[in-house]
Amino acid sequence: MTDYTAIIIGSGYGGAVSALRLGEAGVSTLLLEMGKLWDAPGKDGQVHCNMSSPDGRAMWFKDKTEAPLKSFLGLPVIDKAIDRYPGILDRVNFPNMSVYVGRGVGGGSLVNGGMAVVPREDYFREVFPDVDAAEMFAKYYPLALFRLQASTIPDSLLENSAWYRFARVGRDQAKRAGFKTRIVPSVYDYDYMGKEDRGEARKSAFGAELMYGNNAGKRSLDKTYIADALGTGHVTLKFLQRVDEITVDEAGAFPVYTVKTSEIGDKGPTGVTRKFTCRHLILSAGSVGSSQLLVRARATGKLPLLNGEVGRHWGNNGNVMTARANHLWNTTGAKQSTIPAVGIDDWDHPTHPVFAEIAPLPMGFEHWISLYLALTKTPERGAFEYDAASGESVLKWGPGQSQFSLDGAKIMFDRMNKANLTSYRYDIFGGGRAFAGDFTYHPLGGCALGKATDLYGRLKGYRNLYVNDGALIPGSIGVNPFTTITALAERNIERIIREDFPTP
Ligand code: FDA
Repeated sequence: MTDYTAIIIGSGYGGAVSALRLGEAGVSTLLLEMGKLWDAPGKDGQVHCNMSSPDGRAMWFKDKTEAPLKSFLGLPVIDKAIDRYPGILDRVNFPNMSVYVGRGVGGGSLVNGGMAVVPREDYFREVFPDVDAAEMFAKYYPLALFRLQASTIPDSLLENSAWYRFARVGRDQAKRAGFKTRIVPSVYDYDYMGKEDRGEARKSAFGAELMYGNNAGKRSLDKTYIADALGTGHVTLKFLQRVDEITVDEAGAFPVYTVKTSEIGDKGPTGVTRKFTCRHLILSAGSVGSSQLLVRARATGKLPLLNGEVGRHWGNNGNVMTARANHLWNTTGAKQSTIPAVGIDDWDHPTHPVFAEIAPLPMGFEHWISLYLALTKTPERGAFEYDAASGESVLKWGPGQSQFSLDGAKIMFDRMNKANLTSYRYDIFGGGRAFAGDFTYHPLGGCALGKATDLYGRLKGYRNLYVNDGALIPGSIGVNPFTTITALAERNIERIIREDFPTP
């Protein structure tokens, strides 16, 4: 007997999809999450703090916020001192590359921009030559968009609201430079946003809330997939439980997996550890989390049969952030919604395809800045290696490995500046740089589909051991990734439940 039939590590997109479908199939399932369940208000009456006045709730055990933007007009105004606390956003710092991830029940959905973007089918086929792309685009992407409750911004907001002036300015300038633009769906509730616009509801997207959580409007996974998973009555949720170790006993008729957890309290690990057993173990701790756990398990002899592909094919989805300065008469607005709505599509570029999100920069005053998160078709890949001294799996990413992406972003935004007679901002990423390619919001890979796993996420070397999250995507998908992570997770878990779980 095991404690549960299935255990899922991590409650982001892959974990949430797996939990819902296992619960619906009647499988007794434990969903483990190292972060908090964000459901109780703090002293200010709100569950989350906003980006203008961050406190301990903002970041995962940091002494100060670690924002992607470092300064403004040369003043180091962005990072603020905060209490160490199990906050909602983590920045995992590796040499040459830092990775932002969400911590809490809902994973990245709690902190992300909510952009639900479907990649181009031709690029999906290039990334996943062995996956049935026609089936993905006919069945699993529509299913993911439906379950995530994605919708498109109404014209009344995009074309008329003061809070989307930054997007209209960015779109018009892109068109002037000859680029195509496209509206991207979002999981933010646009009916609620309409009320924010009319002054009928408390401002969330219009109240500088996003990276440290939204108090309203955002349909994060805790409100969609995870709520539905718990509603099946077969899924148990335990949060503030960090999985530290995975072991397997293969002596019996079926493998028994044991996961060892550390309880996390307000000040850090409390010293309380627990063990949970299961027959089927799904890693959905995200690209970094799942890769780190598995690389460590292989290196320390706990799961020695994992193959050499585990830890490899990691990429940053080509993320580069850049900022342009506009003319004084071309204001981007003191009012800016935190939810992006428009992307610039130059994926047909012959050498440097780029898809760039026109990103908001809601500082509460006019700054004339246009901010972008560019995603490039970078061929660069990193790998996780186990460091015995620290006991951690560390990402190896060389100092030159972001150059391809920096070049691609420069090609796009040089053209944009030329067409609009504008220039870059050099004062906001630190070090006098106009481009930042040393952090990512989109960690992908580490347990690539078809390499570390079979074509459905079953890890090679072990029975009933799976990865179902962004670690399956080998480094790049060309657009913001959570819709693909969700769609792939739906596809994989459907097959796994059908073939690996006995019918009750
Ligand atoms: P995800 O990271 O969501 O979940 C993993 C979970 O596992 C986390 O909750 C983590 O705490 C938990 N975990 C990790 N290790 C564990 C352990 N040892 N024990 C227990 N639990 C553990 N994407 C997009 O498509 N559109 C967008 O607009 C944006 N915008 C954006 C903005 C920002 C600021 C960020 C940081 C990210 C985005 N993203 C995005 C990216 C998107 O959020 C990301 O790709 C997905 O959340 C990844 O989903 P996964 O299921 O792979 O893991």
